[in-house]
Amino acid sequence: MAAALITAPRLMSIGGGALGELPALLARLGLKRPLIVTDPYIARCGILDRATGLLDKAQIAWSVFSDTVPDPTTEIIEKGVRELEAGDFDSIVAIGGGSSIDTAKGMSVLHANGGRMRDYKVPNDIPTLGPPLIAIPTTAGTGSEVTRFTVVTDTETDEKMLIAGLACCPTAAIVDYELTLTMPLRLTADTGIDSLTHAIEAYVSRRASPYTDGLAKNAMGLIAKNIRTACATPDNRPAREAMMLGATTAGMAFSNASVALVHGMSRPIGAFFHVPHGLSNAMLLPEITAFSAPAALDRYADCARAMGVADEGEGSQGAVARLLDELRKLNDDLKVPSPAAYGIDRARYDELLPTMASQALASGSPANNPRIPTIGEIINLYKRVYK
Ligand SMILES: [Fe+2]
Repeated sequence: MAAALITAPRLMSIGGGALGELPALLARLGLKRPLIVTDPYIARCGILDRATGLLDKAQIAWSVFSDTVPDPTTEIIEKGVRELEAGDFDSIVAIGGGSSIDTAKGMSVLHANGGRMRDYKVPNDIPTLGPPLIAIPTTAGTGSEVTRFTVVTDTETDEKMLIAGLACCPTAAIVDYELTLTMPLRLTADTGIDSLTHAIEAYVSRRASPYTDGLAKNAMGLIAKNIRTACATPDNRPAREAMMLGATTAGMAFSNASVALVHGMSRPIGAFFHVPHGLSNAMLLPEITAFSAPAALDRYADCARAMGVADEGEGSQGAVARLLDELRKLNDDLKVPSPAAYGIDRARYDELLPTMASQALASGSPANNPRIPTIGEIINLYKRVYK
């Protein structure tokens, strides 16, 4: 096996109240003029005011671009780049869910390299690093604060593009679980299953390494043992802290081991039917795990053990059966609908199957799966989960 190449932020502040470290962190990096990238909700709910209050107190000048949208588009990123280029900014501070952080990454890439977002789609390189990016997640899910990925929807084609490289890895991250204490149930569930999917996919990925294995197993344990509590009692601090740490460590794992078939097939569902990312992962996760497990039984059995649903001494076959039961039960408990129950039109879904399958394959993620599917098998899996 080739040596693992690991990418990670240079600085991370992790723990309750970490947001307070923002001015000190900017100072350590020699940054004086940040553009804050966020969404209208964060701008309204008081989190942005807390961040800008800290900057004011430290006499750091700032501006805000608060137009980011869920499932960031090339149109919004291009607008953000115009904003970035209109001022004398030396850095970007992204505050929000994965969408705000991914928007900021896209802005940084386009500002430094020019061209269009699609020019940097996987497997293309991003030649030049952009301005330093400090990522502050307000959801426990995407792990984008530590990953070398951004996912951007092309406004002209509706394609959800995967863009990857060192240029997309934040310079620093502030991981403060207190920012997630008011997240509503649906968002907690969807983002939590997204991070569980990251950890499982990183662990079974063909590009996994001993370094990412430890992070992935740690994340699976934290998430599986706390997701129901965090959903049921949103202000449960230990559960929120565990979920946030799980999301970030899962991000570290999949950033360096990649995701696999679930994410490959999830992006087209999100792009065409506007299903939130974590929810489309959840719709796929049990069936795709059942499809993939025979090719890596011991690895999936390790996942069951790390999640605490199988005993250490239990054989792989039994442990994998428990994993599948748990993933199905988790979807039931967290009220994850099938695509049919979500309201996706059957005729439109069927008509798009070949396009969705070819976009899934083209993203490269299915090639990391323990069982590499044919296009026909992907179409069958889409059909099986529709219900
Ligand atoms: Fe994800």
